[in-house]
Amino acid sequence: MALQLGDIAPDFEAETTQGPIRFHDWIGSDWAILFSHPKDFTPVCTTELGAFAKRKAEFERRGVKIIGLSVDPVTDHERWAEDIRETQGSALNFPLIGDPDRKIADTYGMIHPKAIDTLTVRSVFVIGPDKKVKLTLTYPASTGRSVNEILRVIDSLQLTAKHQVATPVDWKPGDDVIIVPSLSDDEARRRFPQGWKTLKPYLRVIALPRG
Ligand code: BEZ
Repeated sequence: MALQLGDIAPDFEAETTQGPIRFHDWIGSDWAILFSHPKDFTPVCTTELGAFAKRKAEFERRGVKIIGLSVDPVTDHERWAEDIRETQGSALNFPLIGDPDRKIADTYGMIHPKAIDTLTVRSVFVIGPDKKVKLTLTYPASTGRSVNEILRVIDSLQLTAKHQVATPVDWKPGDDVIIVPSLSDDEARRRFPQGWKTLKPYLRVIALPRG
């Protein structure tokens, strides 16, 4: 069965471009993003890896580690990294897992045979410090992911982990949020003494201080 939100992200040992890792130990007490690339030396992946490398500091600021996976050996990843540096203007600065036997890709359901039979699709798993899957995204091989969107969902996930709020459509940091329906008005008053706007009893909108 496919991995679902709330499942423990399966642990594994792997070779990476930064040496061998055990996944859960590598995550430690941080958040993590694991994302798959259909194959080495492919054009869209080259742009994605360059973009994630360029913006790594934005993930670090949020306490998030980044790790990629491609179903080729690490020796190929190392040659490909040269191309990424040359064409994207930023060197690979996070580990890329080698998964030539596709064990990890299979465990995480990254291979969708009706889309492409041997390569992975573009999966994204956001994993919390408790090692549980907090968010999954699946893109076809032909569509590059959006670093902005991934940062946005991390901001939402981290906000909801800290406060009992949800984020509305197209939310971005600083926008109003929504008090989760499971919180009664009495509990909400204790938690949010500054008050909120009730548009409907189930739609309570509140501005949160940033940070
Ligand atoms: C790419 O990464 O560019 C790619 C890989 C497989 C199919 C299409 C595009």
